[in-house]
Amino acid sequence: MYLIMWMMQSGLIRIRSLDILIQGLRSPSEAELSKKVALLENGEAGISLGSGLGAISTAIMTLVKGGDHIVASDVLYGCTLTFIEEILSEYGVEFTLVDTTDHDAVKAAIQPNTKIVYLETPCNPTLKITILQRFLKLLMNMGQRF
Ligand SMILES: Cc1ncc(COP(=O)(O)O)c(C=O)c1O
Repeated sequence: MYLIMWMMQSGLIRIRSLDILIQGLRSPSEAELSKKVALLENGEAGISLGSGLGAISTAIMTLVKGGDHIVASDVLYGCTLTFIEEILSEYGVEFTLVDTTDHDAVKAAIQPNTKIVYLETPCNPTLKITILQRFLKLLMNMGQRF
C-alpha cells in the first residue's frame, strides 16, 4: 500500500480501447490491488476503479459502440438502468430488458448485434437470483462466445 497519489503514465492512451485501462494513468496501489484480485479470480489482468458505477460504465463502454445491442436484466441497480436506458441510448446503443431467469425470453432477446448480456445476481433491489452456471450454459448452447 502506497500512501501517496502518485499517478504514472506508461503509454499512449487510445480512447475506447482496453489500453486506456491497462497502460493509462495508474497508481502503484491500484496496480497491486488489481494484480492480486486478478490472481484470485484466475484472470489475466485487472483494473480497480473508484466506484461501482465507474466500473460498470467503463466495462460496458469498452465493449460497445453505436449500433450495438445489449441484453440486460429487467431488474438492475437504478443508476445502472439509467446509464443503459438514457446515456448509452444517446450514443445509439440499443438495449432489451429481459427477465434473466426466463431462458426463452433471453433467447428471444439476443440479436445479431448483441455484444453484452448484463445481469446482477442477486439483483439490487429485489434480490432476484439468476443461477449463473445455468445462464452461461444457455448462452453457450446458443453459440455465444465468452
Ligand atoms: C448492484 C450495484 N451496482 C452498482 C452500484 C453503484 O455503486 P457505486 O455507488 O459505488 O457507484 C451499486 C451501489 O449500491 C449496486 O448495488
